[in-house]
Amino acid sequence: AFFNTFIERKYYMTLLSGIQETLLMTAIATVIGLIIGIFVAIIQVSEFPRKLKWLEKILKGIAKLYVDIIRGTPAIVQVSFIWLVVLADVVMARPVVGGISFGINSGAYMAELIRAGIQGIDKGQMEAGRSLGLSYFQTMKLIIIPQAFRQMLPALVSEFIVLIKETAVIGMIGGRDIMRAGNIMMSDTGSFIWPILIVTITYLVLTSTFTMIMRVIEKRMNKGRF
Ligand code: ARG
Repeated sequence: AFFNTFIERKYYMTLLSGIQETLLMTAIATVIGLIIGIFVAIIQVSEFPRKLKWLEKILKGIAKLYVDIIRGTPAIVQVSFIWLVVLADVVMARPVVGGISFGINSGAYMAELIRAGIQGIDKGQMEAGRSLGLSYFQTMKLIIIPQAFRQMLPALVSEFIVLIKETAVIGMIGGRDIMRAGNIMMSDTGSFIWPILIVTITYLVLTSTFTMIMRVIEKRMNKGRF
C-alpha cells in the first residue's frame, strides 16, 4: 500500500531531490575540507626559517584552535551556528550553507589525517632526497607527498563516507536531503517502516558504491608494492 502512495504522490521525486541535495553538500564539503585540511596540515608540519618563527607560532596557534573548536563541538551545533549567526544576513541556499559548514567541519579531521600521513613517512626519505641534491620542497613533492597520499587514502575514504552520512544533519536548518525526504514521507503518510527503510537503503547504496570504486583504485595504486 505504501508503494502506491509512493508513486501517486511522487515521493520518488522527493527522494531524488534529496539524493541530489545530499550529494551536492557532500561534494562542496569534500572540496572545502580538502583545501582546509591540506593547508592546516602543512602549517602543522612545516618549520619556518628563524626570522619567521613568530609567524609560525601564530599560524600554528590558529590551526590548533581551529582543530580543537571543530572537534570539540557537534557538527549539528556548527551548522546551526553558521546558519543562524555567521550567515544570518547572507542569502544562500541551504545545501550551500551545509556544504560550507560540513567542509569546515571535515577540514579539521582531514588536517589531522593528512598530518599523520606526512609525519608517518620515515625521516630517512627526506634525508635521502636532500642528499640527492633535491630541495626541501622538491623532496616533499616528489618523494614524501606521493607516499603519504597512498597511506592516507583509506582514511580519506572513510572521511568522505562520514561526510555523506553527516549531511543528514542538515534537516536541522530545514534542508531537504535524503533523511528529510524520509521524514516528509513519514509525516505525510503516518507510516514509518517503509520511509526509514528507503532512507537506509539509499544511504547504503551511495556509500557502498563509493567504497567499491575506492577499493578498485586502492588496489591499482598498491600494485607492484610490497
Ligand atoms: N557526528 C560527529 C559530530 O557531530 C562527527 C562529525 C564529523 N566527523 C568527521 N570525521 N567529519 O561532531
